[in-house]
Amino acid sequence: MTSCRFIILLSKFKPKIFMAEEIIIENSLSKSEKYTALYPQLQALLAHESDLIANLANTAAALRQTFGFFWVGFYLVKGNELVLGPFQGTVACTRIGFGKGVCGTAWKEQRTLIVPDVDAFPGHIACSSLSRSEIVVPGFKQGQVALVLDVDSDRLNDFDETDAAGLEKIMRLLELKI
Ligand code: SME
Repeated sequence: MTSCRFIILLSKFKPKIFMAEEIIIENSLSKSEKYTALYPQLQALLAHESDLIANLANTAAALRQTFGFFWVGFYLVKGNELVLGPFQGTVACTRIGFGKGVCGTAWKEQRTLIVPDVDAFPGHIACSSLSRSEIVVPGFKQGQVALVLDVDSDRLNDFDETDAAGLEKIMRLLELKI
């Protein structure tokens, strides 16, 4: 009788063991809290994988899963162009020139760009007609831009300094994998 009750208690209160491949973020958290909760989980997810593409792919998926971004992905510097890398969302332009669009401008200016209204950004490249606002964060290797993280929203003015700080911190993590 005693041993039977013990087994029932064990199965009822069995501690949940999460694999590093799982991202768990409470939906009720604020945006800033979500970035804070995501960071250590992403750190764990990337810790044991050295392949850049695998890490970019999981980062794009984790960001999409956490924030429900309309489009999130990476462009990698290859010669004088950015070439599409791992992403989550609808099909996108594959190549962007230096200084072209928001991505190419972030590359050229070596800084994060927040675009509240893509129609007001001269030279914006519309991969999707539904895109309304955008943030692009460059990643560096030996002082040179090596890739950019691009996030698009189908709503105007959807990105702010919280996104810039959160995504830049994630980019510093990814730079360790380049
Ligand atoms: N809008 C970007 C192009 C990439 S897509 O949005 C995925 C730009 O202007 O650089």
